Amino acid sequence: MLKLQNISKHYDNKVVLEDISLDIQAGEIVSLLGPSGSGKTTLLNIILGLAKMEQGQIIFNDQDLSNVSMKKRGFNIVFQDYALFPNLNAYENIVYGLKNKKGLTSEHEVQEYIEFLELKPHLTKKIGALSGGQKQRVALARTLVMKPKLLLLDEPLSALDGIIKESIKARIKSIAREYKLTTIIVTHDPEEALTLSDKILIINQGHIAQFGTPQEIIQQPSNDFVKEFILGQLQVKRENIYNLFGEHYA
Ligand SMILES: Nc1ncnc2c1ncn2[C@@H]1O[C@H](COP(=O)(O)OP(=O)(O)OP(=O)(O)O)[C@@H](O)[C@H]1O
Ligand SMILES: [Mg+2]
Repeated sequence: MLKLQNISKHYDNKVVLEDISLDIQAGEIVSLLGPSGSGKTTLLNIILGLAKMEQGQIIFNDQDLSNVSMKKRGFNIVFQDYALFPNLNAYENIVYGLKNKKGLTSEHEVQEYIEFLELKPHLTKKIGALSGGQKQRVALARTLVMKPKLLLLDEPLSALDGIIKESIKARIKSIAREYKLTTIIVTHDPEEALTLSDKILIINQGHIAQFGTPQEIIQQPSNDFVKEFILGQLQVKRENIYNLFGEHYA
């Protein structure tokens, strides 16, 4: 469905991504996981069409999009800082992108997304009056009404914690399933990646350290970096992971 082939990118003289190849199936949730500065946002922006790559190809449903503009690709992103308009209320933010896209999404459908994300009580509030989780849901609704062919999320959970984090996580999962929407999520938190995604791409300094299902990564980490980055950070969260993978995670 989405194929990345041999993507490379450098800024100035510094290699940021080197020879990234990846195959993502329709409807899958894929996490891009790695430490700060490893190239996750850059890869997401290249897929979106916001950043240029020096080498490689992006194939989407057998069509080569490598030189196709961001607008024509029809993907959509939720930025880490939400990028909502503070002078508009929640509802105005949600439908903002539809102004020049008459007929793309009916008011009835907009209301469905609003209900799905439980935003009804907040529609007339200004962005500044919303909590982090509410802003995140507005940002998700604003993106979903544009009916993206691919949903890209840059650290959607990092500003949230506790119950709110779990509830947004569950929503992202059900959006991907309900709308059969292929979703790529950037995160630096191994637990988040393991509990949220069908597949995980672990990036280390612009290289692929491993690409596989959470189970494969837990059971067969392919090198020391994966072992240390994933398992090291997980020691403190053993219990959660144990609940997911049982005796395989010892
Ligand atoms: N516009 C830019 N100009 C120059 N260098 C850049 C630019 N954008 C990113 N970089 C560099 O590219 C590397 C990868 O950055 P990127 O933002 O993709 O990392 P990341 O994995 O998303 O990190 P984080 O977890 O901190 O968000 C970093 O070394 C960064 O300094
Ligand atoms: Mg980033």
